[in-house]
Amino acid sequence: MSTTGVVPSPEQIEEVVAEAALAPSIHDTQPWHWFAGTGRLELFTDPSLLLGAIDPDGRQLLISCGAALYHARLALRARDLLPAVTLLPDGPGYADLDMDLAGREPLATIRAGTARPPDTEERALIAATRSRITDRQPLRPAPVPATITAALTKAAEAEGCWLATLSAADVAALSVDSVWLGAMGRHTAADWTGAPITIGTHATTGTAGTPDAAGGTAPDAVGRRTGVPTPPAGLRRPTVVALGTDADRPVDRLAAGQAVARILLTATAHGAAARPVGHAEDIDAIRVRVRELLRSTGHVQMIFLVGYPLPGGRPVEPASRRPTAEILTIVD
Ligand SMILES: Cc1cc2nc3c(=O)[nH]c(=O)nc-3n(C[C@H](O)[C@H](O)[C@H](O)COP(=O)(O)O)c2cc1C
Repeated sequence: MSTTGVVPSPEQIEEVVAEAALAPSIHDTQPWHWFAGTGRLELFTDPSLLLGAIDPDGRQLLISCGAALYHARLALRARDLLPAVTLLPDGPGYADLDMDLAGREPLATIRAGTARPPDTEERALIAATRSRITDRQPLRPAPVPATITAALTKAAEAEGCWLATLSAADVAALSVDSVWLGAMGRHTAADWTGAPITIGTHATTGTAGTPDAAGGTAPDAVGRRTGVPTPPAGLRRPTVVALGTDADRPVDRLAAGQAVARILLTATAHGAAARPVGHAEDIDAIRVRVRELLRSTGHVQMIFLVGYPLPGGRPVEPASRRPTAEILTIVD
């Protein structure tokens, strides 16, 4: 293995791993483990931290590890190091992520890179790693400006993913969608708007395809509405965005994780708050429904609410992190 380039010192490796641990993760599981050897830092997942009930195929576990990878990249950039990253090198079994193998083969290898100071954008993201937090308090019922959604889209695209903003009609359609309501309950509509959406009712009567009271259509046999309800005039709510990938292989999920981290840090750097919408990403049917709304052929990986905190919110305690000694093994 090449060890040319600028190699971080053992102390720097420990710092990088500790800073990578500030990444968001599914239910704060922090399902990563790092192995450090000369000139390389390998990211593994710890399959024992898989939340099988809500994440049976490890999709969100991989997203979490991807987020840690992005934070590690930034931690190296903070030390003027530009790392070379390889995803899933030579890993058999990654086509369908055999969780046994996932614990034995690296998800990513970071190799010694060149020396280069961070640019302005990277410096802002590095600073944001120290203040980013998942704040679940209600947001102001107002969207973020287009400059912010543009910055978040750029962040997603820089990591090989896409980001789509749900229109008011998309959100209104989801708010009366039986799959969404069955999984999420009506409270998420309040979460999105600051006040419950009252368009239409969750009626199951009527003929599929006929206009209902909301101006959309009655649901068909599986609850799908073929029309789009009209959102009430003047409705204001935080922005809702969906992060997606063109394919859904493990490597795409790792890319999505890096995009998740970059998006959340970009929002933080712009003074906005972004967080996953409820537990929407736990339910495949919801991700599919959002994909249909967006008329996308890709795979929705996460759905975020982006906005500004309401005045008077209480300070949020940072989630605790696993100690570095528990997540880092020095191999040579
Ligand atoms: C893949 C993934 C899924 C997540 N799902 C949710 C969720 O459904 N609801 C939620 O409130 N937070 C969710 N989060 C945020 C985590 O709960 C949060 O990152 C973790 O508790 C650590 O806290 P922190 O983000 O403040 O550092 C998710 C994060 C990731 C990476």
